[in-house]
Amino acid sequence: MSLLKVNDLKVHYPIRGGFFRKVVDHVRAVDGISFELQPGETYGLVGESGCGKTTSGRAIIGLNDVTAGQMMFEGKDLAQMGRIERRKYTKDIQMIFQDPYSSLNGRKNILNTIAEPLRNFERLSAKEELVRVQELVERVGLTPESIYKYPHQFSGGQRQRIGIARALALKPKLIIADEPVSALDVSVQAQVLNFMQEIQEDFDLTYLFISHDLGIIQHMCDRIGIMYRGRFVEEGTADEIYKNAQHVYTKRLIAAIPEMNPEKRFEKMHLRQAINQEYQTEYNNYFDNDGRMYDLKKLSDTHSVAMQ
Ligand SMILES: Nc1ncnc2c1ncn2[C@@H]1O[C@H](COP(=O)(O)OP(=O)(O)OP(=O)(O)O)[C@@H](O)[C@H]1O
Ligand SMILES: [Mg+2]
Repeated sequence: MSLLKVNDLKVHYPIRGGFFRKVVDHVRAVDGISFELQPGETYGLVGESGCGKTTSGRAIIGLNDVTAGQMMFEGKDLAQMGRIERRKYTKDIQMIFQDPYSSLNGRKNILNTIAEPLRNFERLSAKEELVRVQELVERVGLTPESIYKYPHQFSGGQRQRIGIARALALKPKLIIADEPVSALDVSVQAQVLNFMQEIQEDFDLTYLFISHDLGIIQHMCDRIGIMYRGRFVEEGTADEIYKNAQHVYTKRLIAAIPEMNPEKRFEKMHLRQAINQEYQTEYNNYFDNDGRMYDLKKLSDTHSVAMQ
């Protein structure tokens, strides 16, 4: 059984206007996406800014109301649950955020930060709690004394490790990582990503990895869903997406990955021109007359694309 099965999820935000603040329209932030996460895999959600990645992650963790669709976690629909029933799953699904500074409370030391979820869910003595927090802090590569320090006393990479320690405290099954390294220096990004891969094995974690950076997604993910305006344009294994992309939008994203090798830059520039050309001439293959994308069509067991 898949750990999480999202089926036709929609999240529409109301737009209010006029004197009575009536709902006049909706932003279709997520407009019918479906995907499954198998235990232990890393699934990447990619797409440009505003395509609905964060909204999808927040809906799964229960921070956003769902307009329609199902989110089956171990076979039970999270979207149908009331607050109390849902709370049982708070332990199993945790989120790591983009900006570790704003997601940590500056007035709480690290002990209190990491112990917070434990205090909400487990009854531990002060001694037991201290042992657990110290284990976690060491596991994420910080010194035991760190627990009496405050967030501003750490570097960005260290703060993200603290965020990860807090997410791990309740031994979750699924971690939704929303742009976990985008706010970090490039030199620190690789460290945090490698570390996330290490703990994935140790803690049997499944990741939903959200990023706009296809380079990072390629490094981290087994399977990938490409989002565009609240929908999927393509889904496939990392190989299918990087070596055999079918949708012009996916091709555009891949062609936009910066080329490090100066000898290949010229080649890449030509590739980008060719894709722009294809976008103009083959537009109707990818979008209907109203500019809407088509439903996903299966190319293989793992590869689907939204084409005519
Ligand atoms: N609380 C909100 N109320 C109304 N509209 C919202 C709200 N949050 C997000 N949106 C809109 O929903 C759409 C999707 O936003 P979302 O934050 O999910 O995008 P994203 O893919 O995470 O983008 P980014 O890469 O910039 O983080 C955007 O058009 C955004 O303006
Ligand atoms: Mg986002």
